[in-house]
Formats: sequence, C-alpha cells, structure tokens
Amino acid sequence: MKSIINVELKTSVSNLCDCKTQMLAIGQFSDEKKPLPEIIGLCEKLHGAVEQVVKLGDFKGNTGTSSLIYGNKDIGADRVLIIGLGERKKATLDTIRQAAALAANKAVSMKAKSMAIAIHKPFGAMFDSGLMAKAIAEGVYYGSFRYDEYVTKDEDGRADSLVVELLGDNAAKTKKLEDGLVKGSIIGRAQTYARTIANRPGNIINPPALAEEAKKLAKSTKGLTCTIMDEKQLAKLGMGGILAVGSGSKTPPRFIIVKYSPKNKNGKLPTIALVGKAITFDSGGISIKPSQNMDQMKFDKSGGIAVLAAIKAAAELNLPINIYTLVPSAENMPGGSSFRPGDIVTTYSKKTVEILNTDAEGRMILCDALHYAVEKDCEIIIDVATLTGACMVALGTFMAGLMSNDEKLSRDIEKAAQTSGEKVWRLPCSDEYADEMKSKFADLKNTGGRWGGACTAAAFLRQFVGDKKWAHLDIAGVDNFEKPTATGAEGASAFGVRLLTTYLMDLTKRK
Ligand code: BES
Ligand code: MN
Ligand code: ZN
Repeated sequence: MKSIINVELKTSVSNLCDCKTQMLAIGQFSDEKKPLPEIIGLCEKLHGAVEQVVKLGDFKGNTGTSSLIYGNKDIGADRVLIIGLGERKKATLDTIRQAAALAANKAVSMKAKSMAIAIHKPFGAMFDSGLMAKAIAEGVYYGSFRYDEYVTKDEDGRADSLVVELLGDNAAKTKKLEDGLVKGSIIGRAQTYARTIANRPGNIINPPALAEEAKKLAKSTKGLTCTIMDEKQLAKLGMGGILAVGSGSKTPPRFIIVKYSPKNKNGKLPTIALVGKAITFDSGGISIKPSQNMDQMKFDKSGGIAVLAAIKAAAELNLPINIYTLVPSAENMPGGSSFRPGDIVTTYSKKTVEILNTDAEGRMILCDALHYAVEKDCEIIIDVATLTGACMVALGTFMAGLMSNDEKLSRDIEKAAQTSGEKVWRLPCSDEYADEMKSKFADLKNTGGRWGGACTAAAFLRQFVGDKKWAHLDIAGVDNFEKPTATGAEGASAFGVRLLTTYLMDLTKRK
C-alpha cells in the first residue's frame, strides 16, 4: 500500500530571485497591473517572460488560474508559477488558502519535491501575517493530497514528499509567520488524516476497523483517550438505534468515544460534544438504494471521521476545553437479520421510533449518540452528518446546511465558516417540521413527508438534545468532490475539519 504524500512546511528568509527551489509560487491581483517592487526584480531576471504571458492574454489574474514560467541561470527557482488572486477588494483569507492549494496541486502534478511560496506578499497588511501563514499551510496540505493508497501501477508516478518554504523578508517578519504555520500544519494534517480514512472503501473500513483507527489515533495523540462500545455493550445500554441499523451487516456496529481533556487546566472548563455519523457503507438496507452512484455511499462515514480529525487537531493545539467526540458507526445492509420498514425501535433515550424507511438510518444512529451527549451534560453539542439527499438538492455542493436551536451558536458557526472557508447556510428545523415526524404507533417515525427532507431530519434530531445548545451540519453535498478541481483531488473533502477546529479555537480564545 502506497503512503500518502509527506508534506513539511517551514519559514525561510530569502528574496524571490535567489531562493533555490523546484517551484516558486507568487500571486498577482487581476485589477493591479503593476507587480510589487520585489516581483519586478524577479520579472527583470525572467527577461520579459512574465510581461509576455500577460500581453498574450494567457494570464489575467483571475482566481483558480495560473501561468507557469521556466527559470534560468539568473534566478534560483527552476519554475515560477504566477497565481491569479482575483480582484483585490474581494480578497479574503480563503483567497490565500485557495492560491496555496492550487500551487501545491501543481507542484505535486509536476513531481516537484520542493516549493517556495510568496503568495502572501501582495496582501501586505490586509490580514494578520500569522493568519495568512495558517491559511497557506492549510491550503498546501489540501492541494498536495492525492488518494492513491491502492494504485499499484505507477504509470505517472508521484513524489513521496513535498518540502515547502514560506518566504519572509527578514527574521522579525518571518517569526510572525511561524506561529501560523505551526497551527495551519496541525489543521492541514488533520484534514489529510480525514481524507485518507474517508476515501477508504467499505471493504477496508467497516465499523470495527474504524474503531481500531480511533484507538490508534488516541494512542498517538497526547490528551486523547478512546472507549469502544461493541454490540454487546450497546445491547446492555439499550442503544436500539445503532443496533437496528447495524443488524443487517456481517460486521457489527460500534459506538466510538474519544475524549480530550487538556493537561494543566485552570479551573473548570466547558465540555463540548462533537457527534459524527459514520455509516461505513449505506446501501439503504431493505429500502435499498438504486445502483447508480451507490459507490458514493462509502463516504457516508465522513461526518464521523471529520469529528475524529477535529479532536486530533484540538488536542495538538492544546485547546483549553473538554471535548467528547461521539461516533456511532454501522454498516447499513439488507439481509435476513436487517431491521425493516414497520419495525418499532426503542432508542437509548427510551423514545420509540417507527421505521418507515431503512435508508433514513443516519438519524437512527445519531439519536443514540446525541442522548449520550446530553447524559454526559455537554453544554454544546454539534453533530456532523451526510444526512439527507434533500440538503444536497437545496444547497448544491458548495455549502453545508446548518440547523440549530440556539441563535448564538449558529452565529459562531457562521463566523468560523467565514474564516475557515468551509461555508454553511442556515435552514429551519422548527416545530412545524417536528410535527411531521410524529407517528401513530410510536413516539416518532423516521421519515417525514415529501418536502423539506433536510429540515424534518434535523427536527427529528432536535428532539434528542433536550435543552442543550445544539447545532447540526448536514454535509451531504460537500463531503466529497466528484471531479478534481483547480485546488485539489477528487474524493473525500474532509469538510468540517477546518470549520470545527476554527470554531473551537474561537470559542477558547474568547474565554
Ligand atoms: N446517506 C444518505 C444521504 C445522502 C444522499 C448523502 C446523497 C450523500 C448523498 C442518507 O442516509 C439517506 O439515504 N437519506 C435519505 C432519507 C430519506 C429516506 C428520508 C435520502 O436523503 O434520500
Ligand atoms: Mn441512507
Ligand atoms: Zn446514510
């Protein structure tokens, strides 16, 4: 099995002309024709090549575009990649993140093993330099990622490492970049971890295998402990939702609990729960799905993996907060022992649910985990789930649905979405929707009517969180890319890792 590319980032004091690297990445706004003075110096040594790509109209500075220029004996770099930054007034930290991802993506495609980045320079004092370095590190990890663990024939090959230098003008300025680079690298590695495991298919990652991965994660990360509930313990506890969904599969369900408690805590810290849906494969069960694109349902564990990656990052960042990561995991399969439409399931909360569709399985495993979070008295509960095709119909593939019972929590998540570049859009989950989930034969049923499926699903979940502050992220449209983009490979996106880590960083900063 091939290992995922090893990425390393560091800062260095060097000017653009002398820096020795296989690829130097610089940026240019589309509405500023005049480059920075130090880029002008580089341009002079490139003997008109930069002016030429602009004159020919090959490079206009639009976002998502770039132009490659080859180096010569007068400069240290083998190649110079100019990346479009779009209009200056529209620039955000995500512009920098995306530009870095594009650069890293190109570097890996060209099999470069070293890259130098000066993308932050045209931004001057527009953003804090630590935040820019953080965004660059996140982007570099993102763009360099390829999922090819199981590709054995090496037609095109791939370098196994990429060393990236972030260029600073002088020692003092470079120091400012360093702190951001460390944080961004922690988050970047957490994203890579999430994408690697989420891309592994259902025959490799089943619930017990995911539990083993969580154990491994806890063992190798300071501050984390892991507890696994197997099917016997689930039965003893009465987690009827998780058991029902797992009943049709040969691989039994698991409830994965990873806890983070920081060392040297001063006083009582708040406790937050991150709950993630981990259906290792969703065939739909007895209410089986059509076969077209059913392979995509290997990504139905993405929410669970995102919260595992987020707790990894939180622990490595040493954030002053207690976190429970709760990952109910099952494989939803049809079979002689499957749960069926019409069944009445008693969940961990003792609420009963009539199953009308075995393909609405996510809410059935989440409701047990949410009730567990309430029992543990977590002040804030956030769940992440590839919950409904309806959310994908509503929002497309660019934003996750955000439903909540708390205004401030919603706003805080929206703010984290802006800084992290992982976008969310609010949808309702109020009483009208909850009313649709009432059953004649049990307390609830697991599907609503034809309309507003993302909202009725969230309204179902809301009934398991009591009066705790709760938010739900429906990531059905954003958990994976069907095709490669300018900034990254196809497959799992790790959506939620940056968003949750940013949210937790903001939350702990304010206290
Ligand atoms: N995992 C799916 C939701 C999904 C669909 C995720 C498409 C990503 C892409 C979920 O378990 C599901 O099947 N939901 C059903 C619910 C319905 C039966 C009420 C759906 O959305 O069709
Ligand atoms: Mn389903
Ligand atoms: Zn599902």
